Amino acid sequence: MRRYPGEDVPHRPGESWTKSEFHVSAHEYWEETRPPSYLSGGESGTVKKSDTRRMSVNRGKWDESVPLHFAAPSYDVPSFLRGRSTLKSIEVKSLGSVKGETLLHLQCHFGLDTLSWARRGARVTGVDFSLPAVRTARRLARRAGIKARFLQSNIYDLSHVLDDQFDIVYTGRGALCWLPDIDRWAATVARFLKPGGRFLLLEDHPITDVFPNDPPFTGLEPKIPYFTSHALREVYDGTYATSAKMKHRVTYSWIHPVSKVLSSLIRHGVEIEAVEEFPYTFWQRFSTMTEDRLGYWHFRENEGLIPMMWSVRGRKSSRATRRSFPT
Ligand SMILES: C[S@@+](CC[C@H](N)C(=O)[O-])C[C@H]1O[C@@H](n2cnc3c(N)ncnc32)[C@H](O)[C@@H]1O
Repeated sequence: MRRYPGEDVPHRPGESWTKSEFHVSAHEYWEETRPPSYLSGGESGTVKKSDTRRMSVNRGKWDESVPLHFAAPSYDVPSFLRGRSTLKSIEVKSLGSVKGETLLHLQCHFGLDTLSWARRGARVTGVDFSLPAVRTARRLARRAGIKARFLQSNIYDLSHVLDDQFDIVYTGRGALCWLPDIDRWAATVARFLKPGGRFLLLEDHPITDVFPNDPPFTGLEPKIPYFTSHALREVYDGTYATSAKMKHRVTYSWIHPVSKVLSSLIRHGVEIEAVEEFPYTFWQRFSTMTEDRLGYWHFRENEGLIPMMWSVRGRKSSRATRRSFPT
């Protein structure tokens, strides 16, 4: 396996996390993210400049969220270190055995799900554009004694830093809404899948995005258009996992209708094998929802009014040839 910059950090037994360890200076960011994306015209030179700027705003919020999420009860890092898997039963059932297979996790945050796939026998690579997230993931892997590779990269720049192809590309659970261009995302998925390789997405159903987060949901009253390519700008403290006051309060997100996600995947050579919609979801999307013992969140009343979560299972055509990238 090829070595990538920054991945080979010596093991320090019993190391603990201090606040300063989550801090990444501007200089360090520059050093770790400079080649070759900066040389090729800036982070994610393949997407519109305005969206590149929006993604950097988001990255600030994600960077700041890492230590907060690391300590958040919903991420429950201590129980992960004791062996708990953070994967959802739907994901485990959809992929079946992953033993010995190479798996690429796009937008892996600080790696709990990636490492959970590794515990099931996959040879994992996680990618995220947040350097504190990637560093934390590397440290967690060492602490848990799990072999894994974590790379810092914007999804749209990944072909600049990674040259492999994988048996499985996995993503989701709060990933797609942060991406401005779903067609280029699908091109990335296809680019990193081996011919015949498997793809899995478990994600918020995009219809849930038409309901505002704030004020808390009280009725099904759509406020945001489902069909818009505009970025949604929101200003708020905290995240889905913390209510902490934050320096980075602005985020930009995008709604990607089901048809667009599927047709983009198909266009780039991913054959769709199964699509499912669920009336419950993987997080407390609305304050009126309650959790079951498998970690899915349900409406107490009127469950089934709208889909809350969806999944896509696919496979790259075995006839597919490796395309040039970016498209
Ligand atoms: C909600 S997490 C999803 C991961 C996982 N399901 C979890 O909850 O830990 C979203 C991740 O997407 C990453 N992200 C957002 N936009 C990205 C981009 N353009 N390229 C790479 N990573 C990105 C963020 O840094 C964040 O870690």
